Amino acid sequence: VTAPSPPVPEAAPVPVRFGAGAIRQLPEVLAGRQARRVLLVCGETAFAACGIGRLIGERLGAWRLDRFSCFTANPELADLERGVELARHARSDTVVAIGGGTAMDLAKGIAILAGEPAPPAAYVARTQQLSGRRRLSLVLAPTTAGTGSEVTRFLVVYRDRVKRSLDHAAIAADAAVVDPQLTWSMPPRLTAVTGMDALCQAVESYWSIHSTAASRRLAARAIRLVLANLEAACRAPGPAARTAMSRAALLAGRAIDITRTTAAHAVSYPLTGLYGIAHGHACALTLPHFVAYNARVGPADVLDPRGPAFVLRRMRELYVLLGVSGPRAARTRLAALLERLGLEPNLAALGLDGEDRRQVAALALASERAANNPRRLTPRGLRRILEAIR
Ligand SMILES: [Fe+2]
Repeated sequence: VTAPSPPVPEAAPVPVRFGAGAIRQLPEVLAGRQARRVLLVCGETAFAACGIGRLIGERLGAWRLDRFSCFTANPELADLERGVELARHARSDTVVAIGGGTAMDLAKGIAILAGEPAPPAAYVARTQQLSGRRRLSLVLAPTTAGTGSEVTRFLVVYRDRVKRSLDHAAIAADAAVVDPQLTWSMPPRLTAVTGMDALCQAVESYWSIHSTAASRRLAARAIRLVLANLEAACRAPGPAARTAMSRAALLAGRAIDITRTTAAHAVSYPLTGLYGIAHGHACALTLPHFVAYNARVGPADVLDPRGPAFVLRRMRELYVLLGVSGPRAARTRLAALLERLGLEPNLAALGLDGEDRRQVAALALASERAANNPRRLTPRGLRRILEAIR
């Protein structure tokens, strides 16, 4: 009989430099990591819009800089493969992302996989295990306020339009630079969808079966910040609302790094992969309904080992955070927020018929994120929710 292997130590949280102008510290962060050959992962639009050139100017000239900017809006395996190829060809020692969730997730994938022996597809298909060593340094700077990818140890990539993920302590960045100024140029719609991602992540983290007292504190702060600032960040953005949203995204990222996401994210992946609905929008469509669904948890369908009474206490705390009296009011409030932000609330208007909904439900039920939900998802329960969104 062999002794069980010792638990893998949890990685320390990603160190973050936060604040307006923090991006000017990027050269110093890179110097501290002895960077010589930097691969910059940054979409064309983000690069031009966020004003990074103006903010750090010629100071990046101290490094040999290769740029990877040709990738799709939701990261695909083919994008990751090209990025890994580029990093190997350029012999990059450091990967820097300046962008949204897609750029950051690709940078994470490139940094971890460029030093692995097998092709990226093998790790994404999980036929090959990550060695757990990352040879390239990794620094992430978000230009949106939502994904929190800058502080998480997992990444999402789509293969044949189906979501896959990699999850390993070695994936987390060496450093993150969160400069709210990089988000100032975001148009209202991008602000809304990325902000709703942060809200969904925070709410789902709060009720996740893996929640801890610490993760719930982080999630609670994120929820309060989003509710108080997201509409202002969309309608009349100023430094205060933008900074609060960057902070909220960071806190929600820290929270899901502990807990992972749950049902609304499980449903979002096929909505994004198959129907092209923006990630945060896709999550926000079902979140109001999962509040009501989880409020009816009982002994027969509870997935949280702490039991239904524990989950229901957490749900009551959540109503307080949302400023409502109970699950129905919570559903109404969250659905109203979606509409006020101008995000289409109707699945039919987004192009999904009944058969599409059945396909989405089947893929969501198979998602490992569904297993983190405090109440078991059933085909019938999920079908009813997807039908309720018309
Ligand atoms: Fe998300």
